[in-house]
Amino acid sequence: MCGIVGYVGKQKAASILLEGLKRLEYRGYDSAGVATWQSGGFQIAKKVGRVDSLMRQTEAAKLGGTSGIGHTRWATHGGVTDTNSHPHLSSDGKIVLIHNGVIENYAAIKKFLLTKNFRFQSETDTEVLGNLIAYHYAKEPTAPDANRFLEAVRKTLRHVEGTYGIAVMCADQPDEIVAARKGSPLILGVGDGENMLASDVSAIISRTQSVVYLKDGEIVLLSAAGFSITTLESDDVTAVIDKVTWEVADAELGDYTHFMEKEIFEQPAALENTMRGRFSEDGSTSNFGGLNTPASDFREIDRIHFLACGSAWHACLVAEHLIERYARVPVEVDYASEFRYRNAPLGRHTLFFTVSQSGETIDTLAGLREAKRKGYKVLAINNVVGSTIAREADGGVYQHVGPEIGVASTKAFTSQLLLGAMLALHIGRMRDMSFADGTAFVQALKQTPDLVRETLKLAPQLKDIAKRYAHHQDFLFLGRLSLFPVALEGALKLKEISYIHAEGYPAAEMKHGPIALVSEDCPSVIFAPPGEMFNKVVSSMQEIKARKGKIIAIVTKSCQLPEGLADEIVCLPDCHEAVLPILATVPVQLLSYYMAVALGRDVDKPRNLAKSVTVE
Ligand code: AGP
Repeated sequence: MCGIVGYVGKQKAASILLEGLKRLEYRGYDSAGVATWQSGGFQIAKKVGRVDSLMRQTEAAKLGGTSGIGHTRWATHGGVTDTNSHPHLSSDGKIVLIHNGVIENYAAIKKFLLTKNFRFQSETDTEVLGNLIAYHYAKEPTAPDANRFLEAVRKTLRHVEGTYGIAVMCADQPDEIVAARKGSPLILGVGDGENMLASDVSAIISRTQSVVYLKDGEIVLLSAAGFSITTLESDDVTAVIDKVTWEVADAELGDYTHFMEKEIFEQPAALENTMRGRFSEDGSTSNFGGLNTPASDFREIDRIHFLACGSAWHACLVAEHLIERYARVPVEVDYASEFRYRNAPLGRHTLFFTVSQSGETIDTLAGLREAKRKGYKVLAINNVVGSTIAREADGGVYQHVGPEIGVASTKAFTSQLLLGAMLALHIGRMRDMSFADGTAFVQALKQTPDLVRETLKLAPQLKDIAKRYAHHQDFLFLGRLSLFPVALEGALKLKEISYIHAEGYPAAEMKHGPIALVSEDCPSVIFAPPGEMFNKVVSSMQEIKARKGKIIAIVTKSCQLPEGLADEIVCLPDCHEAVLPILATVPVQLLSYYMAVALGRDVDKPRNLAKSVTVE
């Protein structure tokens, strides 16, 4: 959840590191720091707060030297203090390092190092790692063909339990960086006379589009002239250089105030990218080139099991509804963090899907590995190309929505909803869905981007509602069937960026407890879609009204609510049932966005959160 960056080259490292850190800040923003090598010593600048305050309050930007490392922190071990900020220097001054992850056996290592007279400034697990490297470095014999520094890091990592993405520098070899990963993402940026490291491509894309995705257990020695990758067992690794497909501009704000706002309004184009080239020539179904799963397998499976976290988990709940409805295959949806430990009894012909925007969420990755260990095929729906989940899955679908920088997921979520619907179609057409139904389904899905454009025109109305409701401290979000997960997503969005307490429920569940929260101070956002559930949802609204609860109703054009029942009515375009969850998501995204703005929240970097959760 931290962001790490490294540079070795001919340019001034500090400015390149700071620019990289600014682009990684969505990964964690408790503190930031850089270290460079200049005039015979390490120069370290670190501070609680954002990269901007690091640049304002320290000499960070003035640090000289053409090699260095930088870090932006999401605190795990030790409070948010300057001393606990990275980089950390070993007590003998030889080793400086940054780390993304959790060292689980750090206490035992610290106890050992204290007996070897190593001293500690901070409360972090990371400083323990630095001192252990210094310990091995001091003990490491000087061998003509071996790199003492590299071997000291390798030896250290063999004793470490937990997860890490690290970058380390040594006072005796300041023009080199050693980096390694286990569980945390790490990318090599290959340049001309310079080489870089980063937790993700956004930090280095302004300098190169040639990258190497490091795998777990790999360790790299980096210099301006080149790099070499080996394993912890000292085996050589042949590097595969990939080309990044998106540009710096994709990660720029442009005319928007926040990335979340930009990404909400990018959804029509993002959905077009998600579905591009993925419908069959005969127009009756969807096709996915990378699933590596023949039709016969889809016919054999007797259950689909989704694993995900957060918003992605909500998207899986909608996919569950659509696949069971249109493909008649039983679906199970698990929080990946629970699945990896609950040891569920699983059927023989179960197909697993892991859904993750970042492709680095550690619980989802562990869920994937657990299912594969049990011999199941695991496919992935991911947005970040080259992510760990994408590389470890047996096949998958990339979302192609471009970089999602705002911590609150928006365009990635609606793209996952679209892919869930396309999957229901894909499997349905392999089973009992007719050519005609498939064709109608395809036509409906193809209208989605335009229908979202239509829905985004509701922004001014939602901005007005948000301003008038932002003072409330509690909200209920209510929906039925495929809109219940969208109610959960609406509640999550409001919680994570405005810090207002909100709960999502199936509307009928209200009577079994949540209705106790209903009062003039606890408004309800309720989806009232056309069709079989409309009258039932109207009854739920009347129960709320009877208790003086305010109602923000989200309906479609063809719905007619009883006069005066709702305080606010947000009217979506009419659409196919499979498209409705996507359209219904847009107003709850905008409502939470405008409420957070009205409350002066830091929308893109909400407190206590980070974009990609790489620690357990
Ligand atoms: C959503 O707005 C949050 N950022 C969070 O719940 C997120 O969906 C979750 O951490 C899963 O992330 P992933 O899709 O990258 O795996």
